[in-house]
Amino acid sequence: MVIVFVSLLIALVMSGPIVVEARAFYVFGDSLVDSGNNNYLVTTARADSPPYGIDFPTRRPTGRFSNGLNIPDLISEAIGNDEPPLPYLSPELRGRRLLNGANFASAGIGILNDTGFQFINIIRMNQQLDYFQQYQQRVSRLISRPRTQRLVSQALVLITVGGNDFVNNYFLVPYSARSRQFSLPDYVRLLISEYKKILMRLYSLGVGRVLVTGAGPLGCAPAELARTTSSNGRCSAELQRAASLYDPQLLQMINEINRKIGKNVFIAANINQMQTDFLSTPRTYGFITSKVACCGQGPYNGMGLCTVLSNLCPNRELYVFWDAFHPTEKANRMIVRHILTGSTKYMNPMNLSSALAL
Ligand SMILES: *[C@@H]1O[C@H](CO)[C@@H](O)[C@H](O)[C@H]1NC(C)=O
Ligand SMILES: *[C@@H]1O[C@H](CO)[C@@H](O)[C@H](O)[C@H]1NC(C)=O
Repeated sequence: MVIVFVSLLIALVMSGPIVVEARAFYVFGDSLVDSGNNNYLVTTARADSPPYGIDFPTRRPTGRFSNGLNIPDLISEAIGNDEPPLPYLSPELRGRRLLNGANFASAGIGILNDTGFQFINIIRMNQQLDYFQQYQQRVSRLISRPRTQRLVSQALVLITVGGNDFVNNYFLVPYSARSRQFSLPDYVRLLISEYKKILMRLYSLGVGRVLVTGAGPLGCAPAELARTTSSNGRCSAELQRAASLYDPQLLQMINEINRKIGKNVFIAANINQMQTDFLSTPRTYGFITSKVACCGQGPYNGMGLCTVLSNLCPNRELYVFWDAFHPTEKANRMIVRHILTGSTKYMNPMNLSSALAL
């Protein structure tokens, strides 16, 4: 009798309602958050050969643009998920693994369709959202439509896009098509109005909590320092101006759509502020430099691609930048710490830990 009761109790405990399901996590955007979609595409924007991934748990390249973990990996870890969402194009993303979320990001893309045209075949923003719709149909077949809607509305979404619209479009070459068409302030207004459409489409797809990262200090990347060696290691003024125009307008647009929706669905992360802290006093944060990339060649190790033939620093913990554009895992960790627990200097209207506790 007792044994029957105990096994009944065990069966009850093990069957469903008590098991806490992890929160699904969806990622959209560019190389800062791509975890390997571009491995499956014919494109030059890829990070699937050594030394990328040199400090990843497997010590292998995965398509992440870092020496180790990227921002989605670290957020996923922080919210208690067992594994970060797989790239949407990965054949391993099927069955119950879909319930963990998916990463739709693709290196090289921007807010505008013409950004990153030189990379040939990449998943542009609208296509990422089309895939998200397709994803929801696949999950609906697995767990029903209402449960899919609940999964999506309770999920966390991260979107990181916009840097390439400057670096790989407006400022890609002198007299670029976009720079002949628009003054910088007008171009920024165009980006913000197009970005608003993207965020509203995302909202219409049923998401309830979206973390939106602003543009970092674009002009301080080793690639930019290498391009304008005459400025002696000072950040590129035009790209810094671009970010300083863009970031406040992004924040304003996010506040506006939250007001319109009547809920704080969108949360803005001020990456510029976070990075500027450790760019201006790298030693305070345990870095030896914020100007020289760990992997690369030429001035500031900021020219060309990071390949097996590049100069590679022995200790990645000491560098802010892994390659000419992308942060090291160490820098990513500092950014994610601010996202989670930062004050309103960094996070608006609130940090991620308060947002997820709601
Ligand atoms: C970008 O491309 C998509 C799909 O081709 C299209 O629906 C969208 O209107 C385009 N956006 C702009 C601003 O041209
Ligand atoms: C997160 O933000 C909330 C609300 O602004 C703040 O009260 C809290 O102190 C922040 N968390 C940490 C750990 O600082």
